[in-house]
Amino acid sequence: MNREEMSRIAHTEHPIKSPLADDSVGRLLERGLPRGDERVLDLGCGGGEWLLRALVTRPHLRAEGVDISADALDRAAAAASDLGVRERLVLHHQKAEDFVSAEPFDVVLSFGATHAFGGLLPTLAAARRHLAPGGRVLLGEGFWDRPASPEAIEMLGNFTDLATTVDRVVADGWTPVHGHVSTRRELDDYEWACWGSLAAWALDHPADPDGSHVFETAAVRREEWLRVYRDSWGFVSLVLR
Ligand SMILES: C[S@@+](CC[C@H](N)C(=O)[O-])C[C@H]1O[C@@H](n2cnc3c(N)ncnc32)[C@H](O)[C@@H]1O
Repeated sequence: MNREEMSRIAHTEHPIKSPLADDSVGRLLERGLPRGDERVLDLGCGGGEWLLRALVTRPHLRAEGVDISADALDRAAAAASDLGVRERLVLHHQKAEDFVSAEPFDVVLSFGATHAFGGLLPTLAAARRHLAPGGRVLLGEGFWDRPASPEAIEMLGNFTDLATTVDRVVADGWTPVHGHVSTRRELDDYEWACWGSLAAWALDHPADPDGSHVFETAAVRREEWLRVYRDSWGFVSLVLR
């Protein structure tokens, strides 16, 4: 089983691939899309979960998503058809860093994909290239809530603390107009959902040749979360102008 299939199973119960509850996602979209008729771009859209939610609740919104995963884009297209929003969604199968558009966007979204650009500031630089004057960016990024062990840094990356993360964004010329720090419950719910879904899948498919590998992966990842980064990792979502 490849990584992408494993990730799809892990997110069965938590289709938003970030530690955010549905009402937090809804509030971030409200703050990021105040008019409801914006043109929105999602860099690293995956299965399009953010765009689908935005499109379903805003009949005049138009959206484009970019991702390197053909499978994820196929899922986004199928879901958009089921939800009746397919004609307002354009999907691009390419690297987000190579994407160009003739028209700028009112809002650029990127959640769970800053690593694809090489970190927070390169992601903001990419967003800026696509943004119309006065536009907004919705972005999610990890931070260290407490000093991280070398093992945690090796595992998740070299983040800064929350204040420094926001300082770096402000120093880059952005103004945060809304933010959400994922709660302990959101952080825990996300990890339980991911590793619980993987473990449950393995138990439900005892004859599958990948079953034992999936079961072992769920156990290792759950232990890494609990022992290595649960006490230090945090996640912040920002609406920037
Ligand atoms: C953790 S998922 C987040 C998906 C989506 N933003 C969400 O929050 O549900 C990261 C996504 O980034 C995509 N990705 C990784 N590298 C990329 C790149 N260079 N260009 C575009 N997408 C990329 C992956 O295929 C994956 O769908």
